[in-house]
Amino acid sequence: MKIAILGTGAGGRCHAAKLLELGHEVIVGTRDPDATLARTAPDHMGTPPYRDWLAAHPGATVCTFADAAAAADLVINGISGDHALNALTAIKDQLAGKTLIDYAVPYVYQHDSAHKWPTPWGFMPLLDPVDSDSLAEQIQRALPETRVVKSFVTQEQETVVDPKSIGGGDHTMFVSGDDEAAKGRAAQLLREYGWTDIVDLGPLVTARGLEMYAHFHSAVGLALGRRFGVKIV
Ligand SMILES: NC(=O)c1ccc[n+]([C@@H]2O[C@H](COP(=O)([O-])OP(=O)(O)OC[C@H]3O[C@@H](n4cnc5c(N)ncnc54)[C@H](OP(=O)(O)O)[C@@H]3O)[C@@H](O)[C@H]2O)c1
Repeated sequence: MKIAILGTGAGGRCHAAKLLELGHEVIVGTRDPDATLARTAPDHMGTPPYRDWLAAHPGATVCTFADAAAAADLVINGISGDHALNALTAIKDQLAGKTLIDYAVPYVYQHDSAHKWPTPWGFMPLLDPVDSDSLAEQIQRALPETRVVKSFVTQEQETVVDPKSIGGGDHTMFVSGDDEAAKGRAAQLLREYGWTDIVDLGPLVTARGLEMYAHFHSAVGLALGRRFGVKIV
């Protein structure tokens, strides 16, 4: 299948590498391919330049967000959460009629909170939207002809593409969305990744819970100092 990964970050790289390994055609979207491939320094999170990743994964094609979405049968959103809505709205036509699996967290990194949460890398970002809306719902409202599924977001993407790396793979992944067929495609991809326990949370409004879970996941991950899974029993 032709699968587009919109995003060149650490998470997008996990999906691109695994999908190539699984024999899919992988098209990676970025804002400006020339600029992305010209970078020679790690980003602010220490992620190495994309050209180094691409040299080790020559099967992937890199193009603009619009061209990647237009070329694909299935699209994964790995654009940073604070920019995803604008970037996806700009390629609304290319995404029309397609399933879009969104794993972005709507983090606000620069914020002025009265009660900050210190972390080893600075302060925990805030979530916006939160509670009464979600990024996934915002994307769905902006792209009514696209079938948005929220998934992958409750895990590091390293774990999403390799569930057996945690607890032998006996843990749970979630999908939420308004379109049953689109959720089925997301579940099919998850099974290809190795997931066996996939819980359908129902309509896309439940993505609010998945996005808000990000803070709990961070709290547990920081306490344990390692990746972990959640199992619904
Ligand atoms: N990494 C994980 O394990 C993980 C797990 C769960 C959830 N998430 C969430 O998933 C999202 C993606 O995470 P990630 O680690 O894969 O990548 P990321 O580093 O958060 O984002 C990288 C992508 O965002 C794009 N971007 C940055 N600023 C932009 C702007 N102003 N306009 C348009 N695009 C912009 C970059 O475009 P260029 O390619 O042009 O540089 C790049 O493709 C985030 O919201 C993150 O919180 C990540």
